Amino acid sequence: MFHIIVEKTYDDVSREAFKVVKEVVKNVENPVLGLATGSSPIGMYKKMIADHNSAGTSYKNVRTWNLDEYVGIPRDHDQSYWTFMHENLFVGLDIKEENIHIPVGDAEDEQAECEAYEKSMEGITVDLQVLGIGVDGHIGFNEPGTPFDSLTHLTELTEQTRQDNARFFDGDIDQVPTSAITMGLATIMRARKIILIATGENKADAIKGMIEGPLTTDCPASILQNHPDVVVVLDEEAASKLNQR
Ligand code: GLP
Repeated sequence: MFHIIVEKTYDDVSREAFKVVKEVVKNVENPVLGLATGSSPIGMYKKMIADHNSAGTSYKNVRTWNLDEYVGIPRDHDQSYWTFMHENLFVGLDIKEENIHIPVGDAEDEQAECEAYEKSMEGITVDLQVLGIGVDGHIGFNEPGTPFDSLTHLTELTEQTRQDNARFFDGDIDQVPTSAITMGLATIMRARKIILIATGENKADAIKGMIEGPLTTDCPASILQNHPDVVVVLDEEAASKLNQR
């Protein structure tokens, strides 16, 4: 079930998304958040930090699991998702380092790391999973063709995704890792509630596929049609191809 919110500006989108996170963090005892990287949630993360500073919302009892991590770069690399999360969110909150979970991208045994990550979530229900979406409909790094029953796994990144993310690597696609460890689609679907943030015209096709397209692994995000509680926060451009809002 999708609850679709369309806003004018990125700041409005971030504010609406923040409200959903705050409600979970305030009302759930020992909340568990699933977190995402990318440009889409940055504004929301800024608002979480501002609210922590001004209203004192505490993250002391919050545990987090991130969706994914690049393979082959160390945690202290400036483009690792570990670095991204610390710079854009964790540094501004009172979250405990031991409550933060992000796959290890330079683990010696990648397969074992995938299994360990999935196992670390055993018996855990994510109260709110934050998602962005790729222009090809990927969520996390679940690229088109990923089975709907997938758990945390090692995945090859498509040319399109590497191209899209090259902007973070001096615009040089050759520097973008070719693979990643990602929560699977079944892992993501276990979350109690999901919030997906997308802005810009380049996301309009993926958003249409996710909400109004057929349930198909060609658009991995279409699996969310089977989830009972998905809040989708969009700007006008990302919503522009939807028949119904
Ligand atoms: C990456 C991440 C995804 C993210 C997507 C969109 O590939 N693995 O989790 O949703 O990019 O990123 P952006 O929000 O920057 O458009």
